[in-house]
This record gives sequence, structure tokens and C-alpha cells, in this order.
Amino acid sequence: MILLMALGLAAAAAPAALAQSRAPAAQRFFPKADLMKIGVYYYPEQWPASQWERDLGKIAELGFEFTHFGEFAWGFLEPADGKFDFAWLDRAVDLAARSGLKVILCTPTPCPPAWMGEKYPEIYLVGGDGRRREHGTRANASLANDVFLKYTGRIVTELARRYGRDPRVWGWQLDNEPSAPVDYSPSARQKFQAWLERKYGTVDKMNAAWGGNFWSTKYDSFAQVLIPNESLFGEDALSPHAVLDFRRFTADTQADYLHFQRDILREHILPEQWVTTNYINVTDTADPRRTDRLDFISFTMYPVRGEKNLGELGFRLGSPYRLAFAVDYYRSFKGVTGVMELQPGQVNWAPINPQPEPGAIRMWLWHAFGGGLSFACTYRFRQPLYGSELYHAGIVGPDGVTPSRGGLEFVRVIAEMKELRKLYDPVAKMPERVAARRAALLWSHDVMWDLDIHRQTALWDTWDHRFKMMAAIKAAGAPLDYIGEDDDFAAYPFLVAPAYQLVDEALVQKWTRYVEGGGHLVLTCRTGQKTKSGQLPEAPWAGLVAPLIGAEVELFDNLLDDGRGLVRMKGKGYTWNRWADVLKPLPGTETLAVYVDQFYAGRPAVVTRKLGRGTVTYIGVDTIEGGLERDVLREVYARAGVDAENYPPGVYVEWRDGFFVGVNYSSRPFAVPVKPGSKVVLGSNPLCPANVLIWRE
Ligand code: GAL
Repeated sequence: MILLMALGLAAAAAPAALAQSRAPAAQRFFPKADLMKIGVYYYPEQWPASQWERDLGKIAELGFEFTHFGEFAWGFLEPADGKFDFAWLDRAVDLAARSGLKVILCTPTPCPPAWMGEKYPEIYLVGGDGRRREHGTRANASLANDVFLKYTGRIVTELARRYGRDPRVWGWQLDNEPSAPVDYSPSARQKFQAWLERKYGTVDKMNAAWGGNFWSTKYDSFAQVLIPNESLFGEDALSPHAVLDFRRFTADTQADYLHFQRDILREHILPEQWVTTNYINVTDTADPRRTDRLDFISFTMYPVRGEKNLGELGFRLGSPYRLAFAVDYYRSFKGVTGVMELQPGQVNWAPINPQPEPGAIRMWLWHAFGGGLSFACTYRFRQPLYGSELYHAGIVGPDGVTPSRGGLEFVRVIAEMKELRKLYDPVAKMPERVAARRAALLWSHDVMWDLDIHRQTALWDTWDHRFKMMAAIKAAGAPLDYIGEDDDFAAYPFLVAPAYQLVDEALVQKWTRYVEGGGHLVLTCRTGQKTKSGQLPEAPWAGLVAPLIGAEVELFDNLLDDGRGLVRMKGKGYTWNRWADVLKPLPGTETLAVYVDQFYAGRPAVVTRKLGRGTVTYIGVDTIEGGLERDVLREVYARAGVDAENYPPGVYVEWRDGFFVGVNYSSRPFAVPVKPGSKVVLGSNPLCPANVLIWRE
């Protein structure tokens, strides 16, 4: 691979083309010619049995191709300890199949039945407030509790035995939106201590990693260790290193829980049935990378949630970032993904719940398609008549039969998808100019946790910072993967590591080899300032990366909320107030942007240098609009001789299976540059907000 890159930019497309020709293992579950299948959740246990046949028939009649059962039905599947009732689910699966619908079956573990808590109150998790969660909601069990694990093992085994060889079951969803709940229960404490002992071996090593000499916070034994309770302390904060370990433990506990279920299923189920789970789109505590034994990883998506977003229509069009991020992030793990829940209309749980803009739901579906998804499913078919989600839209309204506005948008896309399938070209190849832009974003939850634990300025926002870098890459029209430190950097001509604070020598060396071999590396502010345990190395500030970036970080600065600092590049100004690394270039390093004001006016904010056959660029500032980040990235592409697009914020263009797919989350029409001779197969140009344009070259 390095050799290919050494051959120069003409060869930059080769690794991407290579990656494309190797179909991911999970692709076997989803014939490519189906493009994207569309389905909907149904809850037989919430409706009179006499209506199931009508409802499932209606789902099929509207064109949906699969349904989804059971993630909250434990109380119906095991109505009493050890007494199982599958008769109702048998009937529902049967009715679905008769209507031509495949079934995604779920493990019901978010909802332990009341009898379990009555017998074993210790199964519940304990919150940061010290209170034990009780029956009456969901996701309330301690994943560290052995009694709960025993019951989990049993229900999953029973389900696997009953449905694991049933070809009407398409695949399995584990649990629901695994969120790695922060758990202060005695079970969690005990498991945390064991986790620490495995990690450190001796308590002295743990004390060193946690900075135990600071405020006499050291421990004499693992048994003394308490769970660092972040919610109880203010300014005199807990050891950030201890907190970081607790976050790692919490994510590992969630991952172990999912792997535990997955391993049981795999013992019993057909090889054709897949196993996944549905992470929340921007998951903070759970870490999808830790569940690498699942066949692929899916996600849930609610873009309209009472946020302003871009322009006057933004609050109805939805976040321009969430879906754009999720399609690439979740697809990157196994090369295949799907959206398990895509907002069907107005929701009930945001502080304010506006109606989506007419067309927005259709646009999200096509965006999901463009992002390479194998399926899109929506929560839920019928609007509930009782329970806490009363105001939540469904595909049909409260009468159970009349399609909602969102329902009709789904129906329209289903019909359009059927037409598009006729145009599917199995040998379509990504155009070389697009493949040449291929980029990877280096992402680690450990780094994110460390940034969040020790933000230094209340204005710091890790997600926002990474979204800005993502948007800069997508504005260039680049295919994007999210990769981890163990992945092959050289498969990508461009690699961006935003605010990658935790590093060790091995990572810095890997970056250096990548650049020397011809890669273009972009690092942003805060990168390389700490070691992997979150401590500062005994060296000048950011000393671990200074030799690589060809600059020292003299100091860093944060402004007040209403403060605005100015940075200038090529005569254009950009404002910032969150973070500024003030740089001092070493000989051979070029300055791209400088600070215009503050006591360090004239000093560099962005630097770049050539190293071996590649380049490394350091963007030391987080700008308010992300415009500088975007322009610097364009400069990196231009200097690399790669032709990049310049899409405005909120416009995304994806390439998939021979189709270019453009969507528009901005509040203005945009004339999409389409190569002459191309054929538009859906929509029209200019591309209006809440709309889609699909064409083939
Ligand atoms: C999701 C959740 C669903 C449902 C939905 C409502 O986060 O997984 O079960 O509650 O939100 O929008």
C-alpha cells in the first residue's frame, strides 16, 4: 500500500478501488441489488390480537418489506419466573410472514419484568444520585449484576432456540439503544475493582496512573476503590484519570453484555441470520468499536429535535450533521450498516417538538441510501394510544389505519426505491476523481471522554469540533470512513485526527510513517497534549507531536462566551472563542493562518509542512463557523493535486452503486455541479431544501 502511494497521486485512488472490490463479510446478508430495504417497528403486545392481521397486512400493503418485534416484550415472553410464552409471538411472526414481511427479532433485555425486581431488587442499577432505579421504565438494570446476567442468558437462549432456525426471522437486534448507563451499584463497584486489578496488576501501578500522590487520593488495595462519582463533586474535581478509567469500564461492561448475548445467539441461530444492535447516533458512553463481534452495527436517528440548525428552515429540516455523521461512522465498522429507527414525524421527547418540513423525511431516507445503508427502518407503525410516547408520530395515526404525513413520505420512497432497483448496475465503479479524495477520520471514545472530563473551557464541545472537521471533508465531496488506531491509515490518501489529545509514541510513529509514505495528515488543536492515561508528559507542551507537526505549541488560549478572536488566512478572516493553540514553527514549516488580535497577534494558528512524500497540517484553532477548517482542508487537497468539490454547508453528495445522491439541509436552493452528459434519475436541479437529486454519470 505504501508502495502504491509512493507512486504518486495518480495511484492515490488505487487503495480505495481495492477496498471496494473486496465485499465486506456482512454484505452476504444484504443482496446489493435490493439497494436499501425499508421496514417498520410493530408491537403486537400493545394492540388487540384481533387487529394484528389487519395491521401487518397494512404494513405490507404500504410497501414495507420487513417488520421489527419484541425489544420491550420481556414481561410477555416470560410472564413469570421461568415460565415462557411464545404462542403470541409465534402468531405474530406467522402473520408477518403471510403478509410477505421478514421479521427482525429483538432480545427484550431493556425491560426486566416486575417479578424479577420484586424478587431481586439488586438487579437495578444505581444512579449518580445514589438512588436505585425501580420498575416502571426501561434500561434500568445493572449490566454488572450476576442475577440479571443469569436471567438475560436464559431468555436469550430460549428465544434463540425457538426462532434461531426459523427462516422467517431475518436477523436479530440485541437490546435497545445500548447506552452504557453509568452505574454506582454494589455489583458495578465490585466489577470495577476486578477490571482495575486486571488492567494494572498492582495497586501501585493504578495509583501512579491515577495520580494518587495528588491530595493523598492513593489507595492501599483495589478493594478500597470507590466508583468516582462525577455527579457529586464540583470544582475540587476527582482524578480525571480515575474518571477516564471508569468510563472505559462502563463501556466495556456494556460491550461485554452485548457480546454475551451475541455468543448465545450464535450458538443456536442460522448462519443466514445476522446479529446487530441499534446504537444511538451520537453515543457518548457506549462505544460501538468495542462490540466488534456483532455482524454489523446499526443506529437510530431523529434529526428534528427542537434545535435551530442551518437557516430559517433548519429546525424543520433537522441537524445537518447527525445523519451525515452516522452513515459513515456506523458503516465504517463492518462495511455495512442500516438505520434501525428513522424519525417518522414529530417526536415527543425533545424539549420542543416541531413538525419536520414536508419532504424532510424523504430526504433523510435518500440521504441514508446515499450513505450506503442496506436498510432503513422506522419507529413505529401505529401512533401509541397510551404510555409516555403518546405524542409520537407513527406511520399511521391514532385510528390505526390512516397514513400520517411521514407515513406517506415513506410510502413514496418505497415506490421510488423499487424503480431505482431496476437501474442497479452491479459493476458500477466509483469514479476515480471521487476515490482520489477518500479520507479517514481517526476517532476514539477514549479521546472524547478525556476531552469531556477535562474541558478546560465550558465552551469546548467535542462533538461540534469533530462535526466541523467532518463537514469540511464532506464539503470536498470526499468519501469518508471513521477508523481506529489499529486500522490501516495507508488505505486513505487523507487522514484527519481532530483534537486527538491522547497519544503515545507508537501512534505518533504510525502517523509519521503514514505521512512519509505519501499520506496527507491533518491534526487539529489539542492533539498530542497528553499520554494515554490522560497525564501530561514531562516535556514542553504538546512535546509528543511537536517534531511531527514541525512546530511548538507556545501556549493555548480560551476566550469568554461573548469574546471573538480573529484569525486570517489569505486575506480572509475567521472568528473563534473556544480554543487557540498559538504555534511557533520550526525551520521548514510554513504558516497558513495567523492570529490577528490578542497579545499573540501575528503568531501562527495553522501550519503545514512536507515530510517524506506526504504532508502534515496542524489547525490550532477551533473557529465558530468551521470556515477556516473547511478552507484549510481545501488547501490540503489543492496542494495534493486532488480535485475537490466545494459544497455549501448542509449540502451532501454521496456516491453509491453507480448513483450520485445529493441532499440539501440548507434553507437555500443549490445548483449542484453535475458532469455534462449525466442522467438525472430522481429530482431536479437546482436542488431545493428538503429535496433529493439522484443522477448517474
Ligand atoms: C428511541 C427509542 C425508541 C423510542 C424512540 C422514540 O430512542 O429507541 O424505543 O423510544 O426513541 O422517538
